[in-house]
Order: sequence, then structure tokens, then C-alpha cells
Amino acid sequence: MDFLPQRETKGFTKGHKGKGEEKIISFAVNFLFTIRMDTVVSGIRSTGNLHLGNYFGAIKNFLKMQTENNCYFFIADYHALTTHPKPADLHGNIKQVLAEYLACGIDPEVATVFIQSDVPEVSELYLLLNMNAYVGELERTASFKEKIRMHPDNINAALLTYPVLMAADIIIHKANKVPVGKDQEQHLEMTRKFARRFNQMYEVNYFPEPDAYNFGQQLVKIPGLDGSGKMGKSEGNGIFLSDTPQAIKKKVMSAVTDTGPTAPGQEPSEPVKNLFTLMNVVSDQETVKFFSEKYASCEIRYGDMKKQLAEDIINFTEPIRLRINDILTNNKYLSKVVSDGAEKARSSASKTVREVREIIGYRPF
Ligand code: TRP
Repeated sequence: MDFLPQRETKGFTKGHKGKGEEKIISFAVNFLFTIRMDTVVSGIRSTGNLHLGNYFGAIKNFLKMQTENNCYFFIADYHALTTHPKPADLHGNIKQVLAEYLACGIDPEVATVFIQSDVPEVSELYLLLNMNAYVGELERTASFKEKIRMHPDNINAALLTYPVLMAADIIIHKANKVPVGKDQEQHLEMTRKFARRFNQMYEVNYFPEPDAYNFGQQLVKIPGLDGSGKMGKSEGNGIFLSDTPQAIKKKVMSAVTDTGPTAPGQEPSEPVKNLFTLMNVVSDQETVKFFSEKYASCEIRYGDMKKQLAEDIINFTEPIRLRINDILTNNKYLSKVVSDGAEKARSSASKTVREVREIIGYRPF
């Protein structure tokens, strides 16, 4: 068996079963495409609605990536269990996040979009990787220490082994690149370590070590509306893609500002700078220029600026919100996306698990 990293070819199995010729052509096209494409894996926890910060900080880049790479985007619903969601909420949470990603333009015809718990192979690889993940290194993980500090009443074993499950998610598809925010960098470092350790332990060159896929300067940090820090989920700070126009107006109109510039050319305070940052991503350059000049000449009226900002945010989010609602009512579509995604993800995952078992030494009787 050849244990060098191989790329999965995808999308050629379905709809071409009857005609041999078509099947071969389709196979060749897919093969040529995927052979020079990197594999990207990214998981999104099914906790909470997506906001503008998620969109401009991550999703926008997923959209770009999906056409240039062999992408696996999944809802990390096993990971979400560490915080014990209620059974009555679990499905709805997953469905909401899935609909939101699709509404943003993640294309299940191009990327493999799936639900983590639909691919049980990942839990087998997780078990196998746990055999050479050491308690000491897991206990030293920053996210684990943070969890202990924040939730001393729920220090479960899955929190400790969270990075092992994440590593399984990634290397099960032999990913080369993982788009990560700052908070996930250490987890990715551990993924590389587990991949390397497996290769060394079994003297194979099987798992590639995935690199962080950062977007450098293109990544905009979206500030919140409460005057400081980045956009989050707390009340009054974040604008959700699913917010109604009225809700957005209300939030923007009550965003924190200051008493206004007192001298021409003055540097804006942080809350005002934040409004300009938001305006920069949703408004056209003319608008930004207009209000910047008004600020510089001390003629700005924050009320006017906020009104314009709210309008431009709504122009951006409203089509997405309508699509989210539309997708949420279309169960037939969602169910097809999920089952096609599971099939594609399982075909790649089961191949890896089969090979891993063989490397470890399992043999058929
Ligand atoms: N841990 C990630 C987060 O909290 C989610 C995640 C799970 C993930 N598995 C992954 C991200 C694999 C990238 C790749 O956001």
C-alpha cells in the first residue's frame, strides 16, 4: 500500500454510474483538478448565530477558498457537546448554523459540507489518536486551562481531549491547510504534533502536517458596538446576520460614541474609530470619505452617520437573512445537503481509517 499523502478525488461517483465513458472522463477531470488542489478542513461549532465579525473575519475567506481548494467545511456538533446543550436545542442549533453558512454562499456543490456526528469514522480515529496523546500536554493546553478557570463545575474528559478530536477532524481528510483564528493556533500546533508522532511511531509518511491558513492583512477584525474590543455575541455588541432591519437600526443607533471632535484633524476615539471600521466594510468609499471629512472638519453628526451605517449594514445583511429563513423552511434541500455531504466525507474518512488500522497492525482473519 502506498502511504504517501494522497488527495481525494471527489464528486465523480454520483450521477455517472451508468455510463462507463462519462465516468472515466469525469474521473480524469476531477483527478486533474484535485491533484493540484490543497485540502482544507474547517469546523464550526454549532453554538450561537453568526454575526458580522464571523462573516468578515472568516466566512468571506471560506467563500474565496472553496473554489481554489478541496474544502471540507463541517458543523462541529461533537465538540459542541462539551458544554452540554439540551437535547431539545441540539438539532435546532446545528440546523441554524448550517442554514447560515449556506445562506452566506458556502456552496455544497463545490465544497464538502457535512455534520461531524454523521461521520462516525472520526470518533474511531479520535480513539486511536488518544493512545498517543499525553495527559500532560493536554493539561497544558491554553484552552483547557481557560475552561477549568471559567467552568470548574464541568471539567469533563472530552474537554481535556478536545484537541485530539480536532486533530482527528483534520487529518482524517489528510488536510494540508486549516483556516484558523488566533484562538485555535495552539490546537493546530497539537494536530501537527499528533500527525508527526503517528508517522514516527509507525515509521510511515502517512499524515501530512497541516499548516495554518491565514489571510494576513486581508483579515479584518470587526469591532463591536459597545465601544471596545471585537464583535462578540454579548447583548448590544454584535449584529447577527439573522437580525431584522428594526433590530439592526436599534443596535446601531445606540452604539457607543463620544461628545464629538473638538479640533480639526483630531484622531477619533476608539468607539468612533470602530464605527468607521464597520462603515469601511459595508459602505461604499464615497460614504466613508464623506463622514471622514465631516469628522475632520468637526461637522460630523453621529446620528446621521449611524443612520447611514445602519442602512448600509441592512443592505448587506437583509438578502442573507431572507436566504437563511428560506433555507430553514426547505427541509428537503437541507436534508439533501447533509446526506450528500456525509457521503463524500465518509468516503474520504473511511479510507483513512482503513489505512490507519492497517498501519497500526490490525489484520483481517
Ligand atoms: N475548535 C474549533 C473552534 O472552536 C472548531 C473545530 C473543530 C475545528 N474541529 C475543527 C476548526 C477542525 C478547524 C478544524 O472554533
